[in-house]
Amino acid sequence: MKRTHTCNALRRDQVGQEVTLVGWVDVRRDHGGIQFIDLRDREGITQILFTNEDAELSQQADRIRPESVIEVTGTVRARGESEVNAKLPTGEIEVVARQLTIHNVAETPPFPLDDDKANKVNEDLRLQYRFLDLRRPNMYRNLRVRSKAAKAMRDYLDSQEFLEIETPSLFKSTPEGAREFLVPSRLNPGKFYALNQSPQQYKQMLMVAGVERYYQLARCFRDEDLRADRQPEFTQIDIEMSFIDREDMYATMEGLMKRIWKDVLGVDLQTPFPRMSYFEAMNRYGVDKPDTRFGLTFEDFTEAFKNSSFKVFKTIANSGDGAIKAMKVPELADLTQGEHRDLENTAKNFGAKGLAFIRIDESGEWKSPIVKFFSDEEKAALQERLDIQPGDLVLFSAAEWERACTILGRVRLECAKLLVKREKLELSASQYNFLWVIEFPLMLHDEEQGRYVAAHHPFTAPVPEDVELLDSDPKAVRGQHYDLVLNGWEIGGGSIRIHQPELQKKVFEDVLQIPKDVVQERFGYMLNAFRYGAPPHGGIAFGFDRMITLMTGATSIREVIAFPKTQKGQDLMADAPTTATPRQLRDLHIETVELDEEADAE
Ligand code: AMO
Ligand code: AMP
Repeated sequence: MKRTHTCNALRRDQVGQEVTLVGWVDVRRDHGGIQFIDLRDREGITQILFTNEDAELSQQADRIRPESVIEVTGTVRARGESEVNAKLPTGEIEVVARQLTIHNVAETPPFPLDDDKANKVNEDLRLQYRFLDLRRPNMYRNLRVRSKAAKAMRDYLDSQEFLEIETPSLFKSTPEGAREFLVPSRLNPGKFYALNQSPQQYKQMLMVAGVERYYQLARCFRDEDLRADRQPEFTQIDIEMSFIDREDMYATMEGLMKRIWKDVLGVDLQTPFPRMSYFEAMNRYGVDKPDTRFGLTFEDFTEAFKNSSFKVFKTIANSGDGAIKAMKVPELADLTQGEHRDLENTAKNFGAKGLAFIRIDESGEWKSPIVKFFSDEEKAALQERLDIQPGDLVLFSAAEWERACTILGRVRLECAKLLVKREKLELSASQYNFLWVIEFPLMLHDEEQGRYVAAHHPFTAPVPEDVELLDSDPKAVRGQHYDLVLNGWEIGGGSIRIHQPELQKKVFEDVLQIPKDVVQERFGYMLNAFRYGAPPHGGIAFGFDRMITLMTGATSIREVIAFPKTQKGQDLMADAPTTATPRQLRDLHIETVELDEEADAE
């Protein structure tokens, strides 16, 4: 094609030139014989003018519908003073058409491709017509940010001597991870691959193989329940390095983030990033991925209420791991009944028995059904440690420590939204609060299964000083695990790994209590590999989709993935998944059966 310019290229300098543009018809305006067309390509918009001098051309132009694909040759001319469109980079000129080719006449799109209007369109419809949805400038911008970020990532890692290596997607099922997608093996009747949840085991094998520095933009598959920040297939920047410790890791990865933010957004990130222990994150923010763009941190009043006349608090303060947490929300004493009820429901949804509160009115009086039970000493403690002012709201959560923190952590986020709504808090998407969350416990006790499960994954090394506690007090062992958090989203996580076969075996068998034969079947090759010269190593994986979501200011990772799945895991455009033909199933040695759901539930 003889396209000479994009639709964002022409300025006054080109006035008088003959040009050829191609693109989609964004808007068409008919001014009685004279027609204006906003021609759009991925770079921008240029106004085309069809005069009525050439009857044939004019007739041809009549056939053009919005979203049709056309090619126009014509002459650039300056717009009159009053016709300049300051909002468009090409707003000082227009192209007077001389020749037109209509490549494709479009039907009327099922929804407007206007960024403002399309955001209100039912998302299922947008996903069904994703090829149209992606034409919107916002969506194209997201894809471009994504592509640029991948390039910046590669440039940086290449400069740091990393090798990009692909690993298989067809892997095997591993216990201890997320739910997996199984793939039947035609050549091995009755056997299944599992799609890889992450390249974790392969990248560790690459370290044993002596690669030293590996990365991959890796597609990962997890059959999880989906949310705004989760997809069943998603992309990781997956990284592994040998002969490093946690400090090396933090520094190298901060360099990576700095480079990506600089190259793509022109933003200079300040490094080193702050660090916070898992305990502090939970204890002060009620979550392991705190949004530190705002405060609303918690104070602990467990000691202060040990002898309280308020029974609820007293009982919990004196129970084993009970905790009383309080959060002051400045200037929210005026919350409405509905808002109050919503906060209470949030708390209850996360297992709270109630959400005790004090509203401090403008005269400084404490309004609350429970203050009458508080002693002067208790009140003084609250006043002093929360620095209570007229107009403030104080909320309490009393339960076992972790639950008390988690409940208030959820309420904290809701309170932040209420403050934003009242314009008392600004949460800017272009403020980037990175935070390393460190010193996670290695194991968490799973009440349901009655055993310990790995907090991160079973390959994470314990902190060296804590190794001897593995037998006596596994819960107290800290892992060499780190998460990178950005504005309340976990964008990455990794660890220094176990590289000694004995320790790895001990963690599998004694701590996680995975039966010996299962360990052998699932991880035998790894234990074996560690007997042949395994270097100390560690790594991390970033959720690439989540990173791009935050970089673009989008609200869901579906906005930065070209073809995402719905909440039900469906591709509405291509209509997947589908049923298989009997022939396909026979080849795979598979039979499908209708499950009797009632019998199944029993
Ligand atoms: P982890 O399971 O923490 O670690 O995953 C790393 C990062 O991947 C992102 N992520 C997801 N993004 C979108 N949809 C999902 N369903 C999803 N699940 C995870 C998150 C997360 O921080 N192999 C280890 C890493 C390592 O130890 O090196 C791993 O996969 O941003
Ligand atoms: P009650 O004495 O149960 O009527 O509760 C008095 C107030 O304390 C109410 O506002 C409850 O919402 C609140 N409350 C009760 N249990 C808890 C708890 N475990 N944590 C926080 N607040 C609570």
